[in-house]
Amino acid sequence: MTIVRFVSADGRDTSEVEAAKGSRLLDVAQADGQPLEGTCEGQMACSTCHVIVDAGDFAALPPPSEMEEDLLDLAAGVTRHSRLACQIWLEPGLASLTVRMPATSRDMQGR
Ligand code: FES
Repeated sequence: MTIVRFVSADGRDTSEVEAAKGSRLLDVAQADGQPLEGTCEGQMACSTCHVIVDAGDFAALPPPSEMEEDLLDLAAGVTRHSRLACQIWLEPGLASLTVRMPATSRDMQGR
């Protein structure tokens, strides 16, 4: 079991779920109603599953592939801790993982 915490783009809302080991982060996020489209369903062709991993948790994940890094270059609101949720599997030993939704133009409304 991994405790996954989702934080909204503005940081105001958080959601905490228990995910089975081996789950894919994109599937866990979608099951929790997080706003990740995942249009290409993990084929690494869309970057609509972009999330920002907590700085402390980032190093605990296997590093991204070159293809993932290339795709992240095209995503909006990318940070040093950005990842594609379709490329993150919750491996045994990962007790918890905190990820934030990236800011999008829609989330910027009301600023
Ligand atoms: Fe398309 Fe992750 S779902 S790149």
